[in-house]
Amino acid sequence: MRPLRTTIDDNTAAGSGMKVLVTGHLGILGRALMVELVQRKVDAVGVDVAQMDVTDAGRVRAVVTRERPTAVVNCAAFTGVDDCESHKGLCFAVNAQGAENVAAAAADADARVIQLSTDYVFDGTSRVPYAEDAKPAPLSAYGESKLEGERRVAAVTSDHLVVRTAWLFGVGGVNFVSKVLTRAKAGEPLAVVDDERGSPTYAGHLATALAELLDVEFRGVVHVAGAGDASWYDVAAEVLRLTGMRARLEAIAAADLDLAARRPPYSALDISRYTALTGQIMPSWREGLAAYLREIKEVSDDAR
Ligand SMILES: NC(=O)c1ccc[n+]([C@@H]2O[C@H](COP(=O)([O-])OP(=O)(O)OC[C@H]3O[C@@H](n4cnc5c(N)ncnc54)[C@H](OP(=O)(O)O)[C@@H]3O)[C@@H](O)[C@H]2O)c1
Repeated sequence: MRPLRTTIDDNTAAGSGMKVLVTGHLGILGRALMVELVQRKVDAVGVDVAQMDVTDAGRVRAVVTRERPTAVVNCAAFTGVDDCESHKGLCFAVNAQGAENVAAAAADADARVIQLSTDYVFDGTSRVPYAEDAKPAPLSAYGESKLEGERRVAAVTSDHLVVRTAWLFGVGGVNFVSKVLTRAKAGEPLAVVDDERGSPTYAGHLATALAELLDVEFRGVVHVAGAGDASWYDVAAEVLRLTGMRARLEAIAAADLDLAARRPPYSALDISRYTALTGQIMPSWREGLAAYLREIKEVSDDAR
C-alpha cells in the first residue's frame, strides 16, 4: 500500500518549505489532520502501519529519510484502553518505543515532532482542569505507555511538542458517539457512565489546532481539547437531543461496567496555554458534537 499524499498545486505552505508526515493517518485523528492539511494546502504525507510500523525503527528511519519532512505528527497509537491491560508488550511497543522511534528519526532529519498523548496520564483526583504542569499518575497500562512515550520523545529531541487530548470522536473509527448512534438507531436502551468527567474533543477541531501549533515556536506540553467538561452520560444525552432520536438513557457508575482498565474519574484539561500560544479558542465539546453529526449527516443544516 502506498502512502497518502496531498496534491499540491497552488501551495503556499510548500512554498514556505513546510512538509508534514502524519503517522497513523487512517485513525480518527490522522484522517482529520490530513483533511485539514489538504484544506490549508500544506504538503503532507500520510502513512499507517502498512507503510510504516512505528515499532520498526529501521522502517521508520527509512520512511523519514525518504520523505524529508519538516515536521512529523505522530498520531499512530495502540488506543484500545482495555486491550492494553492484556497486551502490555504491544501497547508499550507502539505507544512508548514507537514514539521514541518516530522522534529519533525526526530529530536526525531535523524535523520537529508533535507527539499525541492523553488525559489518561492523570489519576483524576484533581477538582480543577489539569494544566500541563500537573503531576501525571496514570491508572492504566495505556496511560503509563503514553506517559512513557512523552518522556522518550522529550529525551531524544528538544524540538518537540507533546499535545495531550481527550475523549476523541470523529469519522473513520468506532468511538463513543458512534456507539451511541448505533444503539439508539437499533432501538436499544443506553446505560451510560455518569461518574467520569472529561473533555470530549472533535477530531476536526483538534486537527485545526494541530495545524495552528505547527506555526508556534513553543516546545513542551500543550493541552488541546474541546472546551468545557462533560460526563459520558452528558455526551449521550446531547447526541440524542441533537439527532432527535429517542432511546432510554440510564445513568450508571463506571464500576458497574467492570472494565479491565481503570479510568480517571475526572480528567478535564486546562486548555488556556493553547489559546495563549495561538490566539485561537477551542470550540466547546457541544459545538464539536454538532459539527461531527453534521459531518456524518446525522443532523441537517437546519439543526445548527
Ligand atoms: N481516541 C481517544 O479518545 C484519544 C484520547 C486521548 C488521546 N488520544 C491519542 O490521540 C492519538 C490519535 O488517536 P486516535 O483516536 O486517532 O487513534 P486511532 O483511531 O486508534 O488511530 C491510530 C492509528 O494508528 C495505527 N497504528 C496502530 N499501531 C501502529 C503501528 N505499530 N504503527 C503505525 N501505525 C499504527 C492504527 O492502525 P490500526 O487501527 O490498524 O491499529 C490507527 O490507524 C493517539 O496518540 C491517542 O493515544 C486518543
